[in-house]
Amino acid sequence: MQVKQLTKIVGMPLFDQVGKRIYLTQAGEELLKTCRELFDKLDKFEMILSDLKGLKQGRLRLAVITTAKYFVPRLLGPFCQHYPGIDISLQVTNHEYILRRLSENLDDLYIMSQLPDNLDITYQAVQENPLIVLAPANHPLANQKNISLERIAAEPFIMREPGSGTRKAVQDLFEEHKISLKVRLDLGSNEAIKQAIAGGLGISALSRHTLALEGINGQLTILDVEKFPIERYWYAVYPKGKQLSVVAQTFLEYMLTQGKQIAESTMTQTH
Ligand code: PGA
Repeated sequence: MQVKQLTKIVGMPLFDQVGKRIYLTQAGEELLKTCRELFDKLDKFEMILSDLKGLKQGRLRLAVITTAKYFVPRLLGPFCQHYPGIDISLQVTNHEYILRRLSENLDDLYIMSQLPDNLDITYQAVQENPLIVLAPANHPLANQKNISLERIAAEPFIMREPGSGTRKAVQDLFEEHKISLKVRLDLGSNEAIKQAIAGGLGISALSRHTLALEGINGQLTILDVEKFPIERYWYAVYPKGKQLSVVAQTFLEYMLTQGKQIAESTMTQTH
């Protein structure tokens, strides 16, 4: 009904429908652009107001890559306790969608490990994101030291989905050593992979953060593999030239200080 009303006010059709898909008309595109500009202006106004009020109020819009869901929400708890007037919106989404949001400047900060190579960004490493090899606790390699990459390649391997930063880092390492993995299946979720490992479908390499809540709970074990952990970092990213709000700037500083300690303490519990 609102769209109908809007079309009436504009006096021109805003979209065409072809089958189940909707395409914006030129008028629709222009309206979308204008609305974005208006929202941007309103956001800036909100930012000026909250900056004037100090940190008592404001909004923090975060978009984080799927694997970052294991530590970002944990950091938000103490931050919100400290600044109870701040509203948080947290989008947890895949690589492609994060890039789209980043290029459209829809959020204050983005958290990811695999940096985009075709966008103009400012980024800062906020903490480590090591990748480890996980196997079922009763796996024959469980107690071996310094297992070779060739030996790992002989095991059925469960891989993250195309587009995942974890997948890219694992593939890069094995390609660098000219070793091909025996990929039994691709799965689009860290949790599904952990269940598949426990179920005996194979081994995998995932971020150590994926163990943050339960640790090594008797069903999974970390294998001691040469070249692992793969050293990676979590980056806080935003479009180059963007002026961060006081709230976003404060959260970034918090991630680099107290936030870092919180994340490190949850990771050491998984050793
Ligand atoms: P993911 O990892 O895409 O595998 O969830 C995060 C990243 O590398 O950016």
